[in-house]
Amino acid sequence: MNIVIFGPPGAGKGTQSNNIAKKFNLHQLSTGELLRKEIKDETKLGLQISSLIDSGKLVSDIIVSDLIEKYISNPIYKSRLIFDGYPRNLNQAKNLNNLLNKYGQKIDIVLRLSVSLEIIKKRILERKNLEKRADDKEEIAIKRYETYESNIKPVIDFYKQTDLLKVINGETSISKISDEISGLIESIKGWL
Ligand code: AP5
Ligand code: MG
Repeated sequence: MNIVIFGPPGAGKGTQSNNIAKKFNLHQLSTGELLRKEIKDETKLGLQISSLIDSGKLVSDIIVSDLIEKYISNPIYKSRLIFDGYPRNLNQAKNLNNLLNKYGQKIDIVLRLSVSLEIIKKRILERKNLEKRADDKEEIAIKRYETYESNIKPVIDFYKQTDLLKVINGETSISKISDEISGLIESIKGWL
């Protein structure tokens, strides 16, 4: 079972991926978390990408592809991945199919969390005090939202051509959304 979960900043990708990972014994692969770790550890890559992340822009496709391939190619995670925040543009969506294909895997379900900008702003401003993420300032959060909006339409169209895409109202409670996602996962034939 490999799952893609996407949606705007603050949609609940991380929250829901974490819940599903625990429940179904999967591994949450958050490209945002991986990139923030590089910055925190002050690696060469971290220094290279920090200004992009802090301005709400996307890091290059090649950099993120290299990061996720390490997981896709690792037998420990084979068909156990939740892609939290990948893909974010059409090139990444195609690349994900190619990478999974290369390692004999596929996507089983694509979840799109739908949340309005008003709610996003509220959530991110609340989280700002808890997690101290450098990109959680209001103007950068709006920039992240704009980056999302300007890249995601072809991704949605790409997955609409398959029967994998499920749209979920991300504005209800965390537990209600988790239940809905669990139901969708359990309804996939042979998910174990
Ligand atoms: P990333 O870390 O993925 O950030 P994001 O997409 O902006 O999303 P967030 O992590 O802010 O939100 P989330 O959807 O995970 O929501 P959460 O569960 O935390 O990416 C950061 C940056 O890295 C990007 O801007 C880009 O620069 C770079 N990057 C990452 N991936 C990339 C890629 N593929 N290609 C290129 N660059 C990439 O929830 C938010 C808050 O709301 C929390 O406090 C939570 O408790 C609360 N909450 C969640 N659900 C609910 C609910 N239902 N009701 C009430 N509160 C809720
Ligand atoms: Mg997140």
